[in-house]
Amino acid sequence: MPQTVLVLDFGSQYTQVIARRIREQNVYSQVLPFDTPLAAIKKAQPLGIILSGGPASVLSKGAPLPDKRIFSLGVPVLGICYGLQLMGKLLGGEVKKCEHREYGRSQLTIKKAGKLFAKMPKSLTVWNSHGDAIVRVPQGFQGIASTENSDFSAIEDAKRRFYGLQFHPEVEHSQRGVEVIKNFLFSICKCKADWDMGDFIEASVQKIREQVGKKKVILGLSGGVDSSVAAALIDRAIGKQLTSIFVDNGLLRLNEREEVIKLFNDHIPGKLRVAKAGSLFLGKLKGVTDPERKRKIIGKTFIDVFDKEVKTLGEVDFLAQGTLYPDVIESVPIGGNPAALIKSHHNVGGLPAKMKLRLLEPLRELFKDEVRLLGKKLGLPDHVINRHPFPGPGLGVRVIGDINAKRLTVLKQADAIFIDELRHSGWYGKLWQAFCVFLPVRSVGVMGDERTYENVICLRAVTSSDAMTADWASLPDALLRKVSSRIINEVQGANRVVYDVSSKPPSTIEWE
Ligand code: XMP
Repeated sequence: MPQTVLVLDFGSQYTQVIARRIREQNVYSQVLPFDTPLAAIKKAQPLGIILSGGPASVLSKGAPLPDKRIFSLGVPVLGICYGLQLMGKLLGGEVKKCEHREYGRSQLTIKKAGKLFAKMPKSLTVWNSHGDAIVRVPQGFQGIASTENSDFSAIEDAKRRFYGLQFHPEVEHSQRGVEVIKNFLFSICKCKADWDMGDFIEASVQKIREQVGKKKVILGLSGGVDSSVAAALIDRAIGKQLTSIFVDNGLLRLNEREEVIKLFNDHIPGKLRVAKAGSLFLGKLKGVTDPERKRKIIGKTFIDVFDKEVKTLGEVDFLAQGTLYPDVIESVPIGGNPAALIKSHHNVGGLPAKMKLRLLEPLRELFKDEVRLLGKKLGLPDHVINRHPFPGPGLGVRVIGDINAKRLTVLKQADAIFIDELRHSGWYGKLWQAFCVFLPVRSVGVMGDERTYENVICLRAVTSSDAMTADWASLPDALLRKVSSRIINEVQGANRVVYDVSSKPPSTIEWE
């Protein structure tokens, strides 16, 4: 078992970010619900415990509380935000509602560096989000840093190794936040930095085996990073009990089906079923131009095809999904039903709810870059790991207006040229997404001595870190020139190429 630092989750949106910051330091971290029984906490043999922030107030009735005996385990504890206030309250100090809530940036003045702030400047910009504050520290504690709004923005009881921070060291806007966490891990908890993704694989394999037993699992494979990594990981755990199902909806990029089959042949020994359903999807989409109707039809048809495939497999118990942490909105439903925890992610078009399958989501704790790291460890090739996101409805929302086979062929060929040139020029990896869009607009051109009257292809390339906002990429002129020339010369059916210079917001990344 790797050395572990436990994070008890009181419902903060940053709880998993704390765990991720710890894993970045090569220390294993596990998030457990705030009310985890003491026996389970002891079983994990933590070297340290972190109490997360949370939306509740320790002053309110029914505030979420941990088992108080965690303070008697002889293990260092770090309380963050709500966690700090909890320590204040549970260990005999006093917490009060602040006159002014403190949100966003503030200036932290460090009065005593101690182990937590060792070798740091006396003043740091930190990020806060709280309405309560400690006004009297428990016995044994002292205030070691303050902000304008709180005299006890950081507290310590060095003897018992209990620490509290009113600000959030885990968020990027907190200066030296990572160092504060490192100090807690290495200087206070004496962790060794002996964990890496290889250990994650081992632990996950074990967990998946325990969870699944001898039962059967299906996985909807989209060919993207998340579902491919999930397939590779589950395959390693239970091999033939897993069947991955890839639905070719006819709206895929050039050679995509073949590439998925090759990925399985070369890297994932398990079973793959490919449902070739292109003509079914195209038939249902005939004459449909409204983007949302397209999405609904594609989603529903996907479920029908998937369902049919699953029925051929006999009894199946689990549906595996490549859900990542950012897909999981709720962490702990405070005071609610833990079942509400499960928010299924409809990565490949929709979860067949009527199938009554249990979910298997081995990537639930991870962030995208961690999944890429994991994929690399599992031996998946770079072009899969670093693939741009691709929407579930695929080219269905990139052929604007009516979709037909001819338009799809033009789009696929143009898109393959664009991506090929981006890869060759080294730009692919710098972009969040890049693709072509087929515009149902015809324009006049001249080729040789002949007049042409064909469609327009739009190039879209954006930078982004999370798809919530995006900017159009300043691709070099020479690159755009080459892509345009190749598309017009090599793709029959396109005689004009335009470049989309709209950012999100107010535009979106996709056109439909
Ligand atoms: P927009 O166009 O809203 O896209 O800026 C944001 C991100 O989401 C992807 N996208 C989708 N993904 N099903 C998906 O699985 C969809 O219907 C869908 N629509 C947009 C888009 O490619 C971008 O990464």
